[in-house]
Amino acid sequence: MHSPLLDPYRGPNLHLPNRAAMAPMTRSRADDVTGVPTPIMAAYYAQRAAAGLIVSEGIWPHRLGKGGPGVPGLTDPAQVAGWREVTRAVHAEGGRIFAQLWHVGRVSHPDLLDGARPVAPSAVAITSGAVHTADGPKPYVRPRELSTAEVAASVEAHAEAARNAVAAGFDGVEVSAAYGYLLAQFLADSANRRTDGYADHVRFPIEVVEAVAAAIGPERTALRISPDHTQLDIVEADPATRYRRLVGALDGTGLAYLHVVQSGAYPALADLRPRWGGTLMATYDGPEPGGHERAEHAVRTGLADVYAFGRLFLANPDLPRRLAAGAGFNRPLKTGRYGGGAEGYLDYPRLDG
Ligand SMILES: Cc1cc2nc3c(=O)[nH]c(=O)nc-3n(C[C@H](O)[C@H](O)[C@H](O)COP(=O)(O)O)c2cc1C
Repeated sequence: MHSPLLDPYRGPNLHLPNRAAMAPMTRSRADDVTGVPTPIMAAYYAQRAAAGLIVSEGIWPHRLGKGGPGVPGLTDPAQVAGWREVTRAVHAEGGRIFAQLWHVGRVSHPDLLDGARPVAPSAVAITSGAVHTADGPKPYVRPRELSTAEVAASVEAHAEAARNAVAAGFDGVEVSAAYGYLLAQFLADSANRRTDGYADHVRFPIEVVEAVAAAIGPERTALRISPDHTQLDIVEADPATRYRRLVGALDGTGLAYLHVVQSGAYPALADLRPRWGGTLMATYDGPEPGGHERAEHAVRTGLADVYAFGRLFLANPDLPRRLAAGAGFNRPLKTGRYGGGAEGYLDYPRLDG
């Protein structure tokens, strides 16, 4: 049967040749000291240029936003030059690529920040789990609370990184407010105990998106959210109310798309779809890689306009062709998932012929 994921998409601010996007995935292969993308990263993304849209791995927009060894940045000319090679390779293969801006806030560690303490909305540490450093896993540290002026500076850092993304040839920017990282920390009751204006949980994410949109144009700006996703000690007391406010504030501002990760008990996708007049990209996050039948159902029923696959795209660089052929899929391996060289990165086979 014809897959609706293969239909072109012509949205208000986004035109794509198909609806099977590649979800952002950290792969930790940038130069760890400089944060500059390496040549194998250009090859990796170019292999996946048949995606309707590629969303890059998370990229730090500020040096205190780095989330792990080998995670790339977008804060200086060398990083911009490195990314230019990536975007050029993707465009040469006929693809499109957005940069994901990913400030991890309290999920970082002094080892990743030249000894600096990670920053967060409030000085509340993550109590379980560990942060991945060059010396292996380490416990999370108590972060430093950002001053009101520093929060405003962080808004501007995101805008500056977005300008860098465009200078590097990216077609747009996806701001991460998902999965428990800095913007999601502001959104969460468990991580945001501020008493200034940013005690309003949605204020910082809205300001970041508005600043990025003002810097590079709303049609090149997108937002990723994962309502009610509880990893990294995130507790949202009333996700429906909070995300309706966030989405309501940004609806009608002409963004490229809203990216909703469906993973919690709150049915975010169904609840927010009618409240969002623009393009909606969806990802279901569960223990198994996102099934294409569920993605097709979401697009066929209008729940999503575009669907972003993570692990299936990681393991199947020619995913749209496999969908068209009704072919099977390579399984994503743990080998080479984070860090390393070409193994588990560039060597997933394509269909023959
Ligand atoms: C190796 C790996 C790295 C990831 N890195 C990021 C990231 O940098 N930013 C992000 O927003 N999501 C990240 N994710 C989450 C994916 O974008 C996606 O939401 C999740 O894998 C569920 O989709 P799937 O079932 O299609 O894999 C990552 C997932 C994987 C497997």
